[in-house]
Amino acid sequence: MAEAERAARVEYDMGVVRGFTIWALIWGAVGMAVGLMAAIQLAWPEANLGPIHFGRIRPIHTNAVIFGFTLGVIFAGSYYAVQRLCRVRMYSDALSKIHLWLWNAIIAAAAASLAAGHTAAKEYAELEWPLDLAVVVMWVIYGVNFFGTIAVRRVRSMYVALWFWMSTILTVAMLYVFNNLEFPVSAFKSYSIYSGVHDANIQWWYGHNAVGFVLTVPILGLMYYFLPKQVGRPIYSHRLSILHFWSLIFVYMWAGPHHLIYSPLPDWTQSLGTAFSIMLLLPSWGGMLNGFLTLRGAWDRVRTDPLLKMFVVGLTFYGMSTFEGPMMAIKTVNSLSHFTNWTIGHVHSGALGWVALTSFATLYYLVPRLWHTEMWSRRLVDAHFWTATLGIVLYVTPMWISGVTQGLMWRAVNPDGSLAYSFIESVAAIRIYDVLRVAGGAVFLSGVLMMIVNVALTIRRGSAAIPREAAPLAPAPAAGGR
Ligand code: HEM
Ligand code: HEM
Repeated sequence: MAEAERAARVEYDMGVVRGFTIWALIWGAVGMAVGLMAAIQLAWPEANLGPIHFGRIRPIHTNAVIFGFTLGVIFAGSYYAVQRLCRVRMYSDALSKIHLWLWNAIIAAAAASLAAGHTAAKEYAELEWPLDLAVVVMWVIYGVNFFGTIAVRRVRSMYVALWFWMSTILTVAMLYVFNNLEFPVSAFKSYSIYSGVHDANIQWWYGHNAVGFVLTVPILGLMYYFLPKQVGRPIYSHRLSILHFWSLIFVYMWAGPHHLIYSPLPDWTQSLGTAFSIMLLLPSWGGMLNGFLTLRGAWDRVRTDPLLKMFVVGLTFYGMSTFEGPMMAIKTVNSLSHFTNWTIGHVHSGALGWVALTSFATLYYLVPRLWHTEMWSRRLVDAHFWTATLGIVLYVTPMWISGVTQGLMWRAVNPDGSLAYSFIESVAAIRIYDVLRVAGGAVFLSGVLMMIVNVALTIRRGSAAIPREAAPLAPAPAAGGR
């Protein structure tokens, strides 16, 4: 091999990517099984057994699917891509290993402490202060390793996916630290330093941006890297992707108050949240269109390639939930949707439709490359796509109908001004939708189990060791485009 060519070859660290891939799948299955249990408890209250009740199960579900499954896929995808885009090995193998195992330990400890009833009582920030400190250490390790890799890169230009992940690292650090500033009173209990409406405002600045910078921005990073790779052509417009990035991160930051409409938060702050939420439609759809247009001339492949099907349906749900969200942020609409299952429908059209489908496609892209073999069964991947899509429809549609039913029943009044329905009548009216959601969740979870079997058999057939990982000699793959 010529000297220059040998110098251009890099041995990437794929061990860490394999680790995150496997653990993301494990936490995904656990988190979604717990979500299914929560859905069963809502449909059949007698399924609340002693301490295994909805109040404890629900945060275990959200923590496991958001911080276990979704973050796991983001770590796997970003570690895989950053090395290739920068054409260097990860900055530090030791940091990569510590990151993987500390993250796993935190997720396990989070599940155990939530099951035991310890909670800071802030949504998506339930963990008590010792775990918060561990999260900060873990995040700093990820940040140093990721930025360190970028600092020693051998490719000058930085593809847009890297920007999406860099902003995730910086923003989540800021949000997490400020929302979790608290006074510890014992090893397992702390109180927020903020009070009243300030606490609510900070919490939903965090909560909304946790959605933005965990469930949206880094997933867009995955889309920008793995979709063009799977299609085999550059992203439609590089310029649009840069515009998408800057406008999205600027606008996202201000939309948090849409979670607090008709609350004691000052009215102008609520209106600001609404205005920024409506503006958010534009960058969101810009990104969606950039994804769709990347498929120009390759649409025929969507019929036969299950990964492209997942990306396309994922982008479609991204478009739908980012249209629905701005509508729900309008005060008159929010007065109907807030507190109802409409929000749950919105959440899962984004979470299952956009986040989970894009994550599955990313993992299916990675697994054969990480273990140097074909997927054990391509037909099972296709079956997973169809079960996931059916599961989403069966979950989300009943929740939309259920939410509108709740909203309309709660606001209906008799001619004398008294309420037309008691609360329990509204609970009885939505029972059927709760049962349908259980069916949707079960179908969706069955797809994840199929994936786990398929991945396990692929790993058994393949090998992590050969051939040696080498840097692509061609220019960084997706950096072209218009
Ligand atoms: C088998 C799949 C799933 C099932 C059966 C399921 C079920 C549920 C249930 C029953 C709730 C509580 C709803 C309520 O309080 O009324 C919930 C909440 C939630 N789930 Fe899932 N879920 C699943 C997958 C996911 C995934 C993959 C994600 C994210 C990536 C996710 C994110 C959330 C979030 C953020 C909430 C809280 C919503 C809110 O507070 O408005 N879920 N889920
Ligand atoms: C333009 C984009 C979006 C806007 C403007 C938006 C807006 C909203 C609004 C107004 C609510 C209801 C707040 C309430 O009444 O309590 C909401 C809830 C939520 N949205 Fe979105 N949304 C967007 C996109 C997404 C996406 C893509 C996802 C996920 C993948 C998502 C996840 C959530 C979650 C998890 C909640 C529930 C938060 C909670 O109460 O626990 N949103 N969103």
